Amino acid sequence: MPHSFHNPVAVHCGQGSLARLPHILAGRRVALITFPEARGLGLVARLQAMLGDALITVIEEVDPNPDVAWLEPLYNAFWRDEARIDAMVAVGGGSAMDTAKVLMAGTASRRFGELRHLLAAGQPFAAARTMPLIAVPTTAGTGSEVTPWATVWDAAAHRKYSLHLDTTWPEAAIVDPVLMLTVPAATTVSTGLDALSHALESIWNVNANPVSDSLAISAAQDIFACLPALRADLGHIGLRERMAHAALKAGMAFSNTRTALAHSISYEMTLRYGLAHGIACSFTLPMVLEMAWSRSPERDQVLQRLFGPDLTVAAGHLRGFLQGLGVRTGFADYGIADDEARAMIARALQGARGRNFIGIQAA
Ligand SMILES: [Fe+2]
Repeated sequence: MPHSFHNPVAVHCGQGSLARLPHILAGRRVALITFPEARGLGLVARLQAMLGDALITVIEEVDPNPDVAWLEPLYNAFWRDEARIDAMVAVGGGSAMDTAKVLMAGTASRRFGELRHLLAAGQPFAAARTMPLIAVPTTAGTGSEVTPWATVWDAAAHRKYSLHLDTTWPEAAIVDPVLMLTVPAATTVSTGLDALSHALESIWNVNANPVSDSLAISAAQDIFACLPALRADLGHIGLRERMAHAALKAGMAFSNTRTALAHSISYEMTLRYGLAHGIACSFTLPMVLEMAWSRSPERDQVLQRLFGPDLTVAAGHLRGFLQGLGVRTGFADYGIADDEARAMIARALQGARGRNFIGIQAA
């Protein structure tokens, strides 16, 4: 089958690659978007020293799972000040990237209310103005540095919106594993499992192709091989680097396929039960693997390259891998009864991401 693969992000990676930031910015004036702990870790001071007068403003109180109530005043102030800024640099995990991508999507009125209305309507739209983004992940997980998507939460309305515009791709990504050395064990595991979920979700996906498959298989193999070892040795730069590359490859894979059923389930688990994204989108992976198996001979071939020929062994391996990292893999483990779990899966299959799942036709 003919297929295409497109990713416009210039990727710089490897130990010490953050030093390329001034060259990439080429004198542009910057708004830095980062996470609350970045200052204590010395990261803000390091970036200030690196960028000098070009660093105009620092937005550092980024909320986990950015919500519309928090984003609104930030967005309105950002676009009021637009003339002072030429580019954004997001340094952090998924929440810093999501926040930056929301800020990228400038509306005609420069007001967040307009953007929220467009997101809630769920129809395609274009940004009236935009701002280039350099994405610098400090966790090996989200892959957001090479995708155009952001998740926006609306807790008051019990909703989650997906922002995806042609203009919300980062201009460049800097993936420097040195920045990941201080990530604690629990976050290392949950973000690493988010990356594993991206890899597998891009395989059991109606949009998969041989390019995304190669990236996904390589990413998943790296994660299986090194995440448990990294959890036991968090300061190991070689393992950090391999996980950074794995998350990048998984991000590249799902930048072209999007995610599927496990992520669709995760949104309700996060909204209703407050589960961290990386756990919410990975605890169901063995179950989703069982649902994906035997749906398509062509997809089975790809899954078997990763897991071998036997489904029981494959699902057992995946379940054991997750449980070995301390992740409980059943809905009941989270207090969810069987009938409620079935209803949640049925709802998730009807969601935008759920419809990417290869098993949807038979569900
Ligand atoms: Fe994810």
